[in-house]
Amino acid sequence: MTRKPQVWLCVSPRRRETHETTPSGCPPPAGENTRVATLAAVELEILIDRDAIAERVDELAEEINRDYADVDELVLVGVLKGSFIFLSDLSRRVTVPHRVEFISVSSYGDGESEVPGAVRLIMDVRHDIGGQHVLIVEDIVDTGHTLSYLERLFAAREPASLKACALVRKPDRAEVDVAIDYVGFDIHDVWVVGYGLDFAERHRTLPDIRILPRS
Ligand code: IMP
Ligand code: MG
Repeated sequence: MTRKPQVWLCVSPRRRETHETTPSGCPPPAGENTRVATLAAVELEILIDRDAIAERVDELAEEINRDYADVDELVLVGVLKGSFIFLSDLSRRVTVPHRVEFISVSSYGDGESEVPGAVRLIMDVRHDIGGQHVLIVEDIVDTGHTLSYLERLFAAREPASLKACALVRKPDRAEVDVAIDYVGFDIHDVWVVGYGLDFAERHRTLPDIRILPRS
């Protein structure tokens, strides 16, 4: 039976685009299905290409430069590993004086927790962020548990200000209400890889964001 292509919506505030693609969904947790993890990159459909990413990163940096124009120093906190490519592109376009920190948290699907949405701190920022203007830089917000955890963690350290930026967000998957001040793209409920995003550590360094189909 031929399935009708679904329309995924890729949204940026300035530009609305619809993108025809085939139905896809989240893959099973790592290890349960090796076929999806071993698909060659070329077989994966592009959802957001490198030019659209670059254009949107420029726009996000412009917004950040405007909003923090009067700030002496901004602290960009990248959430490892997924944000490393986005953060490196964004930070080179942010002209406001800033420094970069990294934090690492465990995500679901690691088989370590029985509690849905539980997040564990693996590596903290190197320097204190108390009294600083902090911008959390995330690759993707799915259920929102990770960002919600990070916002609570940092808020307790009393920064001068705290905001969050995510390259990709999946509104259909939201489980917690979390503030995201800068969003690159809203996408439907598909698993995406590339530009820092992975599936079981694969496909992270692809230059475009591609859909990993459910097997
Ligand atoms: P959340 O806590 O459910 O919002 O999930 C956050 C983390 O799950 C992200 O920072 C990613 O590491 C991972 N994640 C969620 N969706 C995807 C995806 O489509 N591709 C790759 N990683 C994802
Ligand atoms: Mg992440």
